[in-house]
Amino acid sequence: MNNLQTTITAAFETKFGSKPELVIRAPGRVNLIGEHTDYNDGFVLPMAIDRAVWLALRPRPDRQVVVHSLNFEQPTVFDLDDVGHEPDRWGEYVRGMAWVLQEAGHTLCGWEGILTSDVPVGAGLSSSAALELAIGRTFAALGEIPWRPAEMALLSQKAENQWVGVNSGIMDQMISASGKADHALLIDCRDLSTQLVALPAGTAVIILDTATRRGLVDSAYNERRSQCEAAAEFFGVAHLRDVSLADFIQREHELDDLTRRRARHVISENERVLAAVTAMNAGDATETGRLMEASHTSLRDDFEVSSEALNIMVNLALAEPGCFGARMTGAGFGGCAVALVAADQATTFANSVAQKYKTQTGRKANVYICRATDGAEIIDERRETRDRRG
Ligand code: GLA
Repeated sequence: MNNLQTTITAAFETKFGSKPELVIRAPGRVNLIGEHTDYNDGFVLPMAIDRAVWLALRPRPDRQVVVHSLNFEQPTVFDLDDVGHEPDRWGEYVRGMAWVLQEAGHTLCGWEGILTSDVPVGAGLSSSAALELAIGRTFAALGEIPWRPAEMALLSQKAENQWVGVNSGIMDQMISASGKADHALLIDCRDLSTQLVALPAGTAVIILDTATRRGLVDSAYNERRSQCEAAAEFFGVAHLRDVSLADFIQREHELDDLTRRRARHVISENERVLAAVTAMNAGDATETGRLMEASHTSLRDDFEVSSEALNIMVNLALAEPGCFGARMTGAGFGGCAVALVAADQATTFANSVAQKYKTQTGRKANVYICRATDGAEIIDERRETRDRRG
């Protein structure tokens, strides 16, 4: 049994005096390539990771939702007939999911439970999408709503955009909902179709957390979105996804420098994602790594969402034996980098990069050699009812 599953089950028993009727797990993610492309209707290649939100619960006969968190002191408590806002952030995700599901016409029932998470907050590993999907999976199981990952991802994104007020794309919710063990997932963010992509044999994915967190990410993110929209408008399309590199090169001289660089990142990044899928399908770790490195350069110089700490981390990773490629991952400005490394050198790599990063910056990096896992799932169901997994 996973550590957090043991912890959450024991905590539930202490609090409620019985075993939980349902245990749910929803993972964070790391994006291998395809950054700032999702809101341009483009391609992304994330994988769900073995860091997740865990939830142990039982249904209630009334319409109350009561959730305690092992990570925060205050529980969140509300009535499904009166889902109001509350100032603390994590409870807002729970309320937002109740709101969005009811708005979509689903009948929900009350429940009580305990949650915990080992997805670091603000690190670019999608702790909030993991929380949304854990809550979505819970309401779906209790309300006998058939489990359709893409539908739940869209509802979760709506909760995040409209209830919590964060303007994210669809990548994080999609991968937390539909990840598959041992695979990355190519997601076409236009129609949400997906394709499983196995990691090249003999490689490991390593997350390198710079231990830096940046404020103002939301405003910089929204600014990038507007710049992409302006570029799309220039090319006469709704989204930059519809501009090919050839079209771009033909007209780039008509653009101002900033818009040109923003557009070049998105357009070239979409091509890199598809090239990375081809390389991975051919088992070509070297080419996959090269594309990851090119993605970083583009995010650093053209899209300008990297940071000094991320650049240091990526450079240290690239200089290490056994490293095929490395780049920043997630929205940027701080948080994590990701590296593709020869599996038999993963531990040495992790220790060496962490040590050099400490020497160079004085900061202690968190390094995770991670496994690709399934998306949001029911881990344990004790209710004597028929299978509700849909
Ligand atoms: C954040 C957003 C995603 C995506 C990435 C950048 O993680 O939530 O939708 O835009 O940034 O690729």
